[in-house]
Amino acid sequence: MDEPGERRLKVAVVGASGYTGSELVRILLGHPQAEFALLTAGSNAGRCFSELHPQFRGVVDTVLADNTALADAELDYIFLALPHRVSMDFVAGHDLERTPVIDLSGDFRLADAATYEDWYEHAHSCPALLDSAAYGMSELNRERIRDARLVANPGCYPTSAILPLTPLLSAGLIETVGIIIDSKSGVSGAGNKPKPNLHFPQLHGNFSAYGLATHRHTPEIEQALGRAAGGDVALQFTPHLLPVSRGILSTIYARPKHGVDQQAIDDALAEAYSTEQFIRLRKAPPSLADVRGSNFCDIHAKLDGRSGNLIIVSAIDNLVKGAAGQAVQNMNIMAGLPEGSGLGQVALSP
Ligand SMILES: NC(=O)c1ccc[n+]([C@@H]2O[C@H](COP(=O)([O-])OP(=O)(O)OC[C@H]3O[C@@H](n4cnc5c(N)ncnc54)[C@H](OP(=O)(O)O)[C@@H]3O)[C@@H](O)[C@H]2O)c1
Repeated sequence: MDEPGERRLKVAVVGASGYTGSELVRILLGHPQAEFALLTAGSNAGRCFSELHPQFRGVVDTVLADNTALADAELDYIFLALPHRVSMDFVAGHDLERTPVIDLSGDFRLADAATYEDWYEHAHSCPALLDSAAYGMSELNRERIRDARLVANPGCYPTSAILPLTPLLSAGLIETVGIIIDSKSGVSGAGNKPKPNLHFPQLHGNFSAYGLATHRHTPEIEQALGRAAGGDVALQFTPHLLPVSRGILSTIYARPKHGVDQQAIDDALAEAYSTEQFIRLRKAPPSLADVRGSNFCDIHAKLDGRSGNLIIVSAIDNLVKGAAGQAVQNMNIMAGLPEGSGLGQVALSP
């Protein structure tokens, strides 16, 4: 029998035909203690994984199963890389005691079913599970993630905002009103289904805002920051579509409380993150290229003496720290493995 630390974990990626699903496969291929037991798809079930994602040709030529194959599979972890709503219906019919689930969709991120219904515009199919789902912001919620059977992996935009703002709100250094989160995302954030605004002529050389005051990541960010602040947080979140394939850059504005200086900001961020493997505190604003393909969140914070505002710039890869990388980080926490297992990739730049 294998030693506990040596046994390879058998994992399934449900929705492996999509962007985050294939990114999970890419990351898990380099994981020293995990192997794929099953890759599934929806309409693409029966097709070869590497036919859909030719970069895997000769490496992962597995045929994609449909989800019924999960019933017979002996698995340690299931990753759900499915659209919201499809995810919760899957979980509703699944025995979490048998196999824990890490869900990349938004279905289990909000603790309150009524808030979910308001923002997602349909009822939740298993509201009783919302309480037991651990919010999977790895650096901020390890204790709950470790013992969870259901992990709600955070949204990509929320990851870029919650990581820098949480230590500052927890320490009471910034006001809880008037926070502005101005985020720009690469197109892979929208998934792999074609849409008119994602066509090359619409996108190339273009840049646009969308989802003003209505984006579903708003309540997720408010929930996490409210927990950090110990009360309500009022914020403005505006997403933008960048004509690049990957990456999120968020520029965040907040009002420091009276008497708070740059040193206090730097100290709070350093106290929270100086020993964290995947968070890099930067002396200059990071760019998308610095993090592309990696699990890093890079953060720079600058107090502007003229305006009195704190300006924070954070950068992540939406498909890695914003999705598949953080999901693997969470599996590592749950399995008691070194948190960085399989996540050693540095950025692809230049
Ligand atoms: N893209 C990002 O940057 C990002 C970041 C964080 C979180 N997320 C979340 O992660 C989830 C996946 O996102 P994505 O960008 O990977 O989407 P995507 O590229 O559109 O992929 C979704 C996948 O789900 C599969 N699917 C749909 N219904 C299915 C079913 N009934 N059974 C099995 N598979 C089914 C589809 O398979 P077929 O194509 O074979 O039908 C598709 O491959 C979403 O909830 C998204 O909000 C995405």
